[in-house]
Amino acid sequence: MAHSFFDLSGQTAVVTGAARGIGAGIAARLARAGATVAVADLNAEAAADQAEKLRAEGLAAFSEELEVTDPSSVQAAVDSVLARQGRIHALVCCAGIAGKALPTWQQSDADWQSVIDINLSGVFNCCRAVLPTMVEHDYGRIVNIASLAGKEGNPNMVAYSASKAGVIAASKSMAKETALHNICVNAISPTVIRTPILDQLTEEQVNYMTSKIPRARTGTVEEVAAVAHFLASPDCSFVTGQCYDVSGGRATY
Ligand SMILES: NC(=O)c1ccc[n+]([C@@H]2O[C@H](COP(=O)([O-])OP(=O)(O)OC[C@H]3O[C@@H](n4cnc5c(N)ncnc54)[C@H](O)[C@@H]3O)[C@@H](O)[C@H]2O)c1
Repeated sequence: MAHSFFDLSGQTAVVTGAARGIGAGIAARLARAGATVAVADLNAEAAADQAEKLRAEGLAAFSEELEVTDPSSVQAAVDSVLARQGRIHALVCCAGIAGKALPTWQQSDADWQSVIDINLSGVFNCCRAVLPTMVEHDYGRIVNIASLAGKEGNPNMVAYSASKAGVIAASKSMAKETALHNICVNAISPTVIRTPILDQLTEEQVNYMTSKIPRARTGTVEEVAAVAHFLASPDCSFVTGQCYDVSGGRATY
């Protein structure tokens, strides 16, 4: 049964990084609102399991394997969704990694590059692949998951912070390019959300980030998914080029 708010019946949404964590939560939320959801992830097996879980709830979902750093893999996944569904109404870019928690002078070329490739180029690759069909149909909603680190800069996370600042700026650029095509592009900046990505960080790093949150706790996947749901829906019609913080009050600007 679809929600009466932000109804997505008849729509198709692609969620990258949806095999687990925040992406999985957003995929579930959009499916419960009536969308058919492509659970797109590098981890094909986990993506298939996640889609199966949603179908077991009576929701519409299928999985797509994609490597966001590889433009041909991204294009193949988008083409496959279009062949199956005909349209892509919403894209949520959630695939991302934290990278190594080390000071800048101890980060290798590969440490820097892998985070930039996945978190920033990955978002570019996915948006570039879906925008032509959104422009053609004069409708689209894109939600890019950035991070508070992209606004404030977390110590020992130089590539991550820079990549997420890039995601916020790229979202604003694309929003302006597409504003006359009824396409809205927005970013979300969560603070610490309890998901497996935190396993890449030390407990000290997680405690440092949590200590900066006025709400004095970590956020939940559902709290991020609620904001993503609005931004991915037709109700989000006059909001574009914005960055929504889901941060328990951490950011003050
Ligand atoms: N968890 C947090 O505290 C937090 C805070 C702010 C922002 N974020 C951002 O939210 C997003 C999701 O984070 P999460 O905590 O759910 O992480 P997660 O590690 O639980 O899930 C990330 C998913 O992305 C997929 N992925 C990784 N690299 C990929 C690639 N190259 N191509 C395709 N898929 C790939 C993984 O397989 C995984 O399923 C990330 O962009 C992250 O930076 C997370």
